[in-house]
Parts: sequence; C-alpha cells; structure tokens
Amino acid sequence: MTVRTAPPISSLAFYADLARSYDELALISPAFPSATMIYNLMSGHLSIDDMRVLDVGIGTGLSSEPFAADGFDVTGVDGSGPMLKLCAEKGIAQNLFEVDFTTSPLPFQNGAFDAAFSANTFYLLPAAAQEHVITELSRVTKPGGLFAFNYEPRRPGDLGIRFNDATLNPRNPHSVITYALEPERVHTLLAQHQIGIVAADTRIVARKLAGLPIQFETLICRAP
Ligand SMILES: C[S@@+](CC[C@H](N)C(=O)[O-])C[C@H]1O[C@@H](n2cnc3c(N)ncnc32)[C@H](O)[C@@H]1O
Repeated sequence: MTVRTAPPISSLAFYADLARSYDELALISPAFPSATMIYNLMSGHLSIDDMRVLDVGIGTGLSSEPFAADGFDVTGVDGSGPMLKLCAEKGIAQNLFEVDFTTSPLPFQNGAFDAAFSANTFYLLPAAAQEHVITELSRVTKPGGLFAFNYEPRRPGDLGIRFNDATLNPRNPHSVITYALEPERVHTLLAQHQIGIVAADTRIVARKLAGLPIQFETLICRAP
C-alpha cells in the first residue's frame, strides 16, 4: 500500500481538482457515499405539491438527477465553480448558484422551496458551518415542508476530524479534512428551532480504502 502524506487543502480546492473525475469515481469507488441515498429516503415523503426542490452542495448534479428525472424543478447551490460547470452541462437544474457555505447564507428568501436537501456535503464543513446550513435549509423551506441532510455522527472517543487519505482520486495528491458532528448537538439544534424529525436512517455509506468506514445519519425534517 502506498501511503501519501500530502497536506490537506480546502474542500473547495479539493473539489475543483476532483471535478472532472467525480462522476466516474462516485459511481465505482467504495470510498464514495451513494449520491441517490437522499432521494431514495426522501422522495416517498414528498407530495405532488412539492415540486420546487433545492440541492445544497449539488456538485455535478448526481444527487439531483433522480429528482429531475421525476419532474421536480431543481435549483442547486455549491461552492465549486468547476463542479457547477459540469452540472450545468447536464441541464438537470433550472438555476445554479455558487455559494461558499462556510461564509455565506443561502441566497434565497424564507420559504422559497417546497423541499430542500443536502447530500454528502455536511462532512466537508466545520461543525459551525454544518449547524448554519441546517438552519438555512429550514429557513428556505416552506412552512411545513420537508428538508433532508446527511452528516457523519461523531462517535464517543473520536476527535471528529479526519484527514481524507487522498485515495478518493488517484490523480490528486492532496487530502481534505472531514468533520463529524455530535448527534446531540444536531438534535438539540433541531429542537431549538422547532424542527420536527419525520424519519431517520443511520448506515455505513462508504468504505475508505484506508482508515475507518464512514457512517452517516440521514434526517428527514419538517420545517416549522
Ligand atoms: C461529495 S460532493 C457531493 C455532491 C453531490 N451532492 C453528490 O452527492 O454527488 C460535496 C460537494 O460539496 C461542495 N462543497 C464542499 N465544501 C463546500 C463549501 N465550503 N461551500 C460550498 N460547497 C462546498 C463540493 O464542491 C462538492 O460539490
């Protein structure tokens, strides 16, 4: 086994570098969480009135493809210009916006969407930014509408921060830091904002080629 020790770079630099290989790797590599997991868990809870959906961290669009195929009207936000460029070429989203979730709010009015979700993105954000995006997902979802996200629950005794070991992309010498979040913090935050939990799912979503497997909790929530 080759061990690479290149220093980590920011998540946006990492995805700028990964963009061209992303779809191919996401479909074949056991190191990638399933892009369609949120759709599989969420779509059965949506009604015929829930057509305007927002994908936060849309990337190249893999997480939105099944929504678009079902006729949903997809808007996407992501911080990576190169990922968004590839997404735009597929024509699955009506509108795309470049936003860094660590520094900016979502550029939408309160209740602008019938439903919203973030797939496989939270673990790339520091804890404070993950908490910020949860409240932003709730804010931009219509009252009583559903939003969903997945995050890596921090395990007891775990520091909650890992260096991705760069095996995601064999052509990328860099690593990226990922962040687990304490489940108690997530559930307290939801309660503080009167956000209900409609469904929860915990499972191993990716097998890192070195290091621990990645487990996510996915929550389907109802905006107050
Ligand atoms: C693993 S990909 C997930 C893409 C898509 N949702 C999927 O499941 O295929 C993570 C996405 O998060 C985006 N991202 C990472 N850090 C970000 C940040 N600070 N602000 C905005 N987007 C960010 C990346 O550009 C990338 O598109």
